[in-house]
Amino acid sequence: MTILVTGGCGYIGSHTCVQLIKQGFDTIILDNLYNSKEIVLERIYQITGKRPQFYQGDIRDKHLLNNIFKENKVTNVIHFAGLKAVEESIKQPLKYYDVNIYGSINLLEAMKAANVKKFIFSSSATVYGTQPNIPYIETMETEEPTQPYGRSKLFIEKILQDLAKAEKDWSITLLRYFNPVGAHPSGLIGEDPQGIPNNLMPYITQVAIGKLKSLAVFGHDYNTIDGTCIRDFIHVMDLADGHLAALNYNSSHSGVNIFNLGSGQGSSILEVISTFEQVFKKKLAYHFAPRRAGDLPAYWANADKAKKLLNWQTHLNLYDMVHDSWNWQSKNPNGFNE
Ligand code: NAD
Ligand code: UFG
Repeated sequence: MTILVTGGCGYIGSHTCVQLIKQGFDTIILDNLYNSKEIVLERIYQITGKRPQFYQGDIRDKHLLNNIFKENKVTNVIHFAGLKAVEESIKQPLKYYDVNIYGSINLLEAMKAANVKKFIFSSSATVYGTQPNIPYIETMETEEPTQPYGRSKLFIEKILQDLAKAEKDWSITLLRYFNPVGAHPSGLIGEDPQGIPNNLMPYITQVAIGKLKSLAVFGHDYNTIDGTCIRDFIHVMDLADGHLAALNYNSSHSGVNIFNLGSGQGSSILEVISTFEQVFKKKLAYHFAPRRAGDLPAYWANADKAKKLLNWQTHLNLYDMVHDSWNWQSKNPNGFNE
């Protein structure tokens, strides 16, 4: 099988490419390097001994997409490419809808023209909205997220559902990720945010490496075990393996299938910090700050469906996640910028 991986140079895409290559899949990456670096391909080569075929370009480029499908016998598409910064999406909604929604439609049109109809989409737990009944399970109704990034994910899910209703020969899997963290155990690839990180784990590792002064813990007056928010953190290697499991399932199941990819367990922010301190063997500088607008107090996945139907579950724990995040950060203080 030949898998086209859009956004394959990015954080989750690169880890998934490593696992795909290890399983013997031919892997083609399409990425415009908007939020990633070409050196990722070299690192994938160092880990796997294979360099994925690479097209540098945009998912909104019709001509390029048609060429990719003409030049290769693509059998499946895993679609990671997109923009993901929640705050930025509030300030620049058109950019987010253009890349995420128009880009996805463009890709689907090119697939249709090439008669490639197996598609796996990177969705997010954000499509559950602000519902208080946790854990989130796939049978729950979705709720419109409060920001354009989340809305773009929900709209794409709806577009894919409409497509599968209209054309019965599509096999579409929607993977709703919870909070991906961690890095490949080699420390050769990992998350490399541009500028000051928005997300918890890269913020922690950048404080530890001395690039940032102190982590602001947003809110410690939530109704949770220690007052801080609770999230379902999932190691990016487990998440990558979830894509392989989904690829297998998607090959023999048409229509739309939806899976949560999470550990099924919540951890508080203070638990993450104290686990990090065990790994780091020093105290981490942090302080309490006001709640961040839009944050939910607590949610985690019900991951039973993926376990039952995909035969997939997480194997790596919070210690592994912080260990591998720190391993990546300490070996690459400047990320992929050498
Ligand atoms: P990432 O930014 O590291 O990777 C996305 C990749 O897509 C980057 O390499 C970027 O250069 C590329 N890209 C962006 N716009 C493009 C375009 N127009 N054409 C071609 N390539 C383009 O992000 P990630 O964390 O690896 O996330 C991958 C997917 O998973 C995204 O769709 C994201 O919304 C989704 N997701 C991520 C998280 C998370 O916390 N990381 C959670 C839920 C869902
Ligand atoms: N947090 C801090 N300090 C920080 C950064 C984060 O205390 O500097 C806290 C947040 O308040 C939150 C938790 O750490 O409680 C996790 O925050 P992240 O920003 O790492 O992740 P989110 O849970 O906010 O968001 C993630 C993805 C989004 C996705 C969302 C949906 O980043 O893409 O989950 O579930 F939309």
